[in-house]
Amino acid sequence: METKGVKKMNRLKTNFLGKEFKNPMVTSSGCFGFGLEYKDYFDPNVLGGIVVKGITMEPRDGNYGTRIAETPGGMLNCVGLENPGIDYFENVIVKNIKSSGIESPIIVNINGKVIEEYVEIAKRVENIPEVDMIELNISCPNVKDGGMAFGAKPEVAGAVTKAVREVTTKPLIVKLSPNVTDIVHIAKVVEENGADAVSLINTLLGMAIDIKKRKPVLGNTFGGFSGPAVKPVALRMVYQVYKNVNIPIVGMGGISSTEDAIEFMMAGATMVSLGTGLFSNPILPVEIKDGLEKFCEENGLENIQEIVGAAHN
Ligand SMILES: Cc1cc2nc3c(=O)[nH]c(=O)nc-3n(C[C@H](O)[C@H](O)[C@H](O)COP(=O)(O)O)c2cc1C
Repeated sequence: METKGVKKMNRLKTNFLGKEFKNPMVTSSGCFGFGLEYKDYFDPNVLGGIVVKGITMEPRDGNYGTRIAETPGGMLNCVGLENPGIDYFENVIVKNIKSSGIESPIIVNINGKVIEEYVEIAKRVENIPEVDMIELNISCPNVKDGGMAFGAKPEVAGAVTKAVREVTTKPLIVKLSPNVTDIVHIAKVVEENGADAVSLINTLLGMAIDIKKRKPVLGNTFGGFSGPAVKPVALRMVYQVYKNVNIPIVGMGGISSTEDAIEFMMAGATMVSLGTGLFSNPILPVEIKDGLEKFCEENGLENIQEIVGAAHN
């Protein structure tokens, strides 16, 4: 409870890439639309920042057929980067976000089929003043033409990071794929090529089969696996990457409680990102924000950032 006349200490305030976030919580791309879709559940300004759905140069319809399948403790999706394209994003969506009163920083997740397209979209985003940071998605597992192909090969991951770095002054977060043998190597390569931060993990490649039809459930055969079931894998990767890079980490993969968020921070994440957890509990950000404040109070922390990397000590 706030004592009269005494300003409550903001123990969650987090400086991330030179920008002040009111707390270390963002939303994961593709799980929070464009910031307004959950406004009936909670004020989006509760969030530290908002990462919007992946944007491409041209509008995309996404994949045909079944796009979502539930799994024990998680889900598969093959949305296939459906989005309205950069023109609509710049001219309509960004304006709507700002006129709705959202003040939390906006991070735009960008995608391309070839390096030139990543460069082109990064140049466009560079000129949108309302956008605070770029998240470079080199890890989408459910589009045939690109995405994960960039994130799985270190030399390609390095080349696309370098090319985008050259055309943007905005902070650049590179989103890593878990579908690799050595995540640490890829993280180091993108760091060397100009990434200001890394976010991990994107979804794991998975599938489901309809035994009556004797066919894959998903229209795209394979899809991205996410949700609580992936958390141990994601946490392990954040832990490994933290040990080996000097740039901050946005940790995600299965976060569905305050305890999960704390684990990610103790593994080394400066920021935590909420994705699939929002689908089963739309007020998760409110619960985690309150939970983190309580954790700070109970553990005598002046700021939540004191626990980042604590599990390595
Ligand atoms: C329906 C859906 C759509 C997604 N779309 C994107 C996307 O457009 N760009 C991206 O980088 N990641 C996308 N992701 C991946 C999430 O941002 C996140 O990295 C992943 O789901 C792991 O976190 P979670 O287990 O908390 O969901 C999507 C995930 C889901 C479930």
